[in-house]
Amino acid sequence: MNGLPQPKPSVQAIAPYVGGKSALAGRAEVLKLSSNENPLGPGPAAIAAFRALVGGNAGAGLHRYPASDHGALRAGIADLHGLDPARVICGVGSDEIIALLCHAYAGEGDEVLHTAHGFLMYQLSARAAGAIPVAVPERARVADVDALLAAVTPRTKLVFLANPNNPTGTMLPEAEVVRLADGLPPSVLLVLDGAYVEYVEGFDGGLAMVEVRPNVVVTRTFSKIYGLGGLRVGWGYAPAPVIEALGRIRPPFNLSDLQQGVALAALGDQAHLARSRAENAAARDWLTGALRAQGLGVDESHGNFVLARFADEGAAIAADEAAQAAGIILRRMGGYGLPEALRITIGTMEDCHRLAAVLARRGR
Ligand SMILES: Cc1ncc(COP(=O)(O)O)c(C=O)c1O
Repeated sequence: MNGLPQPKPSVQAIAPYVGGKSALAGRAEVLKLSSNENPLGPGPAAIAAFRALVGGNAGAGLHRYPASDHGALRAGIADLHGLDPARVICGVGSDEIIALLCHAYAGEGDEVLHTAHGFLMYQLSARAAGAIPVAVPERARVADVDALLAAVTPRTKLVFLANPNNPTGTMLPEAEVVRLADGLPPSVLLVLDGAYVEYVEGFDGGLAMVEVRPNVVVTRTFSKIYGLGGLRVGWGYAPAPVIEALGRIRPPFNLSDLQQGVALAALGDQAHLARSRAENAAARDWLTGALRAQGLGVDESHGNFVLARFADEGAAIAADEAAQAAGIILRRMGGYGLPEALRITIGTMEDCHRLAAVLARRGR
């Protein structure tokens, strides 16, 4: 050792999160299909709220701290979804809720389960808390309830399940989620990550389960269908004792009034969600068919992205390079243990046609 300050070994074990690229050298304009963002952007109500909050002399209030309890935003969320506002917690993206859950419930030597191809922040947040992330095998890229239950040990504190899952796009039927919840020891917290829930018509992502189970938590976000990834607002719904625990460690001023105000306005614009959901479904169906017709493996996706599987890693890299040469950014999946795959965010129908044409020409 050099005598200099050293981070904890659990922190040293973290492979830093690498986000989707947003630029290509030498290209002023790119088509970014790497971070599951809504190609329509935010809805008009969110944009109007943003303008109103930053415009005029609104900056005059910048010396004031924002509302710490997120009261108006929690009320808006609760109202829209029929929830108890006291059990809603808001964070800097759902990333922050995931981190708070790990810090509050898992520590040195504890285990945090996630599906083999689950969102990378589960591993990262578990390690940051000093805990051990445990990747549980899936069945054909779908979460496997039996495998998850078999992986539980006396040290298991949390189980993360994204439904629909990123990056596979697959979904676990509601009955299977209930079977998972039923099978877990009451001391284990089941976190149902609903980042893509709104893309599934009529699915509540498990919010009703939170009402009747003391060990189920749901996380949601404004980053995906609301088109507000840049705003950084997410939320969770949890039993009262969990909210109380998270409240102890949540930074008190984690969300600015701007973040809270724009998110609240976005909630009132469900027409934008309906349009986003419908356009996404049409473009996703078309792209899935087009990629399958090119001989690629594509599972049915329930989110705003598809996972395209190529013959091998070399073929995936060649396809990614062909896309980049055409100014299109996709997401390589080596970090998710899927080196032969690329994750493709569903853009507009026009974007999908453009990408499919580029991929059809690859290597020829
Ligand atoms: C499954 C899943 N959960 C959570 C997040 C975090 O999103 P945010 O922090 O923007 O709410 C993402 C982002 O890609 C995701 O894919």
